[in-house]
Amino acid sequence: MRALSFGAVAERYERYRPGYPEELADLVLGFAGRPIGSALEIGAGTGKATRLFAARGIAVTATDPDQAMLDELRKHVGVRTIRAAFEEVPTGERYDLVYAAAALHWTRPDGRWDRVAALLKAGGAFASFGGPVRLVDPAVERAVSEARAPFLDTDEFPSPDGTPPEREMQWPGTELLQDARFTDVRQVTIPQRLTVSASAFVGLLSTISAYLQLPEPERAWEAISRVLPETVEIEGGVVAHLARRT
Ligand SMILES: C[S@@+](CC[C@H](N)C(=O)[O-])C[C@H]1O[C@@H](n2cnc3c(N)ncnc32)[C@H](O)[C@@H]1O
Repeated sequence: MRALSFGAVAERYERYRPGYPEELADLVLGFAGRPIGSALEIGAGTGKATRLFAARGIAVTATDPDQAMLDELRKHVGVRTIRAAFEEVPTGERYDLVYAAAALHWTRPDGRWDRVAALLKAGGAFASFGGPVRLVDPAVERAVSEARAPFLDTDEFPSPDGTPPEREMQWPGTELLQDARFTDVRQVTIPQRLTVSASAFVGLLSTISAYLQLPEPERAWEAISRVLPETVEIEGGVVAHLARRT
């Protein structure tokens, strides 16, 4: 199952996926506009976003259905963890902040916003952020697409509600805008450019679920490796959606 494909590559995930910039914590905490004591994280994975918020003194409860991801998370950050898909997270407790990093699209749409609303204190903040990693040089991007084509049309996740990419407001902002339990909906992009070696770029691809579904993903990674220069520049910008519980 694609949503649970990450655990098998938890160490690689930790090693090759870019982390989240400090500006993201500044953005979310600034948006919250009041002290954040507690947070629930949906799909925490290896804890790349967990450590950002834990380092700001927030008591984060990190949840994820995948034990291998949580085992890796515990090596990097000491927070409460719950092994659970979002659909199973107990709703008895309310938090100042509920957030998801590159994970909300894996949760089931049915009742998603009911659960987020139930987990937030009145006036609490919701944040969902992530974004595809793209090659900056169009010539390298073209060469990589051609090398990938026999295996995959794209390695990006389609918009969960089918919002066309040219629309200003993207998912999940689109859904939050239609839900009266949320207000002050915003979309903010934080650019983040990195230069990585070709092998680190392929390492990054080796953590992306689209490849992990292939019967022989190594063939795709090898084909892509052959067209890469020694180093590549990547745009790993973070698109954040923010909203406040009414
Ligand atoms: C792309 S990873 C993101 C991990 C981490 N948040 C990060 O930003 O590095 C997606 C995570 O979502 C988790 N996941 C899959 N299905 C889920 C669900 N139904 N509820 C919550 N998390 C889920 C996976 O186990 C995986 O750890």
